[in-house]
Parts: sequence; structure tokens; C-alpha cells
Amino acid sequence: MTQEVLILPGDGIGPEITAEAVKVLEALKQNDNLDITMTHDLVGGAAYDAHGVPLAEETLEKAKQSDAILLGAVGGYQWESLDISVRPEKGLLALRSNLELFANLRPAYLFPQLADASTLKPEVVAGLDILIVRELTGGIYFGQPRGIRTLENGERQGYNTYVYSESEIKRIAHVAFEAAMKRNKKLCSVDKANVLEVTEMWREIVDEVAKEYPEVEVQHMYVDNAAMQLVLNPKQFDVMVTGNMFGDILSDEASMLTGSIGMLASASLDANNKGMYEPSHGSAPDIAGQNIANPLATILSAAMMLRYSLNREDLALKIEAAVSKVLDQGLRTGDIWSEGLTKVSTSEMGDAVVASL
Ligand code: IPM
Ligand code: MG
Repeated sequence: MTQEVLILPGDGIGPEITAEAVKVLEALKQNDNLDITMTHDLVGGAAYDAHGVPLAEETLEKAKQSDAILLGAVGGYQWESLDISVRPEKGLLALRSNLELFANLRPAYLFPQLADASTLKPEVVAGLDILIVRELTGGIYFGQPRGIRTLENGERQGYNTYVYSESEIKRIAHVAFEAAMKRNKKLCSVDKANVLEVTEMWREIVDEVAKEYPEVEVQHMYVDNAAMQLVLNPKQFDVMVTGNMFGDILSDEASMLTGSIGMLASASLDANNKGMYEPSHGSAPDIAGQNIANPLATILSAAMMLRYSLNREDLALKIEAAVSKVLDQGLRTGDIWSEGLTKVSTSEMGDAVVASL
């Protein structure tokens, strides 16, 4: 049966990098019996410019109807002064929340060819393969109450609420344990239980869920220490699980271990493995429209889409092998380029992946 994929390029470099992933999917449609339709729509600043909101009701409806969503990135300077309720980022957060995409998988995998591209020493990162499981629809990103209020003394006060319910922690813990079972049976849960009650409870619940997975070795780590350990000795980690905000921060940090944030794919899944797939990086407005951005995180996100939502592990592996081959050929976008390698544009990189499929 034909599966429907909604393509949401978004803003900044979003349209450029998404176009390359679409190229790859088109090639698989033609040559490998990939049975999908792709429909494009607007999200983020682009949607705001067209509709006055960062996610039109109709687009959300399409997203709900589709089997998977591939998203580029949202945000840009021209929308930064808008009220926070209609900023581009709200479109992304609304998709995550309305589709209940609570499980965000961010694999920090170092292609061996890129060991020199990281700012860390090659021996520290060689062989790196970490999966960050980030809770995506709760925590301080969505907690109520929130806002900016004026106190009696006339001073303004900004406030947010860091809140997790037991069921939210349980379900993300299960996702992380299941992932650990499929990998090296090692899980590190990251919290700030020495200061924040919400994560003290997080720790308790992770330990409870752990009883159902006796084979998995569980460790708890404070987030400040985890941030340090990620650059000190990243290979000690296999699967990491954490809340929304810590996961946002640690996944950017982990991406640099892989050479560039332009390499980090992600999947955001609901309870039935329906998902939205996007690179972990942002819209990079400073380089938008120049055809120099790295499309590989988006192409690798499309691979994750084939794996988790479209049930085509074979084609996911095929894309990943093609990316590896292109790196073997010495082709690099600017972010991962160094002397002696061939610098290519966004579209040349996409073409090279298609040629290597
Ligand atoms: C990410 C991004 C988003 C987030 C922004 C754009 C809202 O940084 O996906 O990591 O904070 O989740
Ligand atoms: Mg982020």
C-alpha cells in the first residue's frame, strides 16, 4: 500500500537540505520499489508569512493523516521579534505535541571517515556510536504555568515550570530500555536529582522500569557531569535517556563528536512508531540560500524514516551505505571539509549520494 510522506522544508537552509533528501527518496521510488507519495507544505516562518501562524490547522491535519513527516528546519532572524506564540519554533513544537511524538532518537554516530573532522582528538571519538533518547513533549518546554509577569514592585519576572508526570517518564524509559536491549544493553539516565525534585522522581521511575529489563546495566548521571563526560570520554556511553531540555543541550554537544552538527539525524516517534524526521541542527539563516549546507543529517533522517515508520530497513541501510561511500570518495561539504578533500555543495552532495545508492 502506498504510504504518504509529508515534506515540511521550513526555513533557512531547510528547503535546500530537504530537497536533497527528497532526491534520494525519488531515486529509491524509481529503482527500489519504494511505494510512497510526497506532499509538500509550509511550517515555521514560511507558514507564518503565508498564513500568519507557524503551523496552519490544515497542515497539522495533513501531518496527522500522513504515515511519516520529513522536516527541514525552522526559524530565522526576520521572525525573531514576533510574539513568542507565533514564532517559527512554535510550529515545530506544535507538531511534536499534537502528534504526541514523545520519543526523540538522536544517534551520534561517527562515520570512521570523519574522525579527523571532530574538534576532539581522533582517538577520543573513533568508533563513537551513542543513541540519545530525548523526551520531547513534556518537561520545561511545555510545563504550565509559564510566561513573563510584572511583580508588585514593578519588576518583570520570567517563569517556566519543569514538570513530568510518572506516565511520561515511564513511557520514555521503556523506549530507552528497548533501544538498549537492541544495542549493547547499557543505559545512562541523565538528571539533576541533586537539586530538582522532578528529576529525583525521574531517577526513581527509571529504576522501577529497570526491573523489567534485568539484562540492561543502568547508570544515573547528573547532567553537568554528563556534559563533561561527553567530551572527556564519550565512548563510555551507549544509550542515554533524558528529559526535553537536557536532551536538547546534550544532543548538540554530542553532534560535535561526530564531526559536525550537519551529520546528526533524528526521529521523533509516537507510541505506534509514527514519526517526524528532521536533522538535529537548526535553520542556519547565516548560510541559507548559498547551497553550502550539509544535507547529510537530513538524508540520514530520511533513512531513519524508512527504518522506523515505513518498514524498509533494507532501504535505510542502503542510504547509510551510500553516505559512507560518498565520504570514502573524499567528498565533503564545508563543515566537514579539510585540506586534501574535495569540497562540494549541498546539491552536489545530494547527487553523489544518489549516484552511490
Ligand atoms: C531541536 C531544536 C528545537 C528544540 C528548537 C528549534 C525549538 O533546538 O530540535 O533540538 O529546542 O527542540
Ligand atoms: Mg536543539
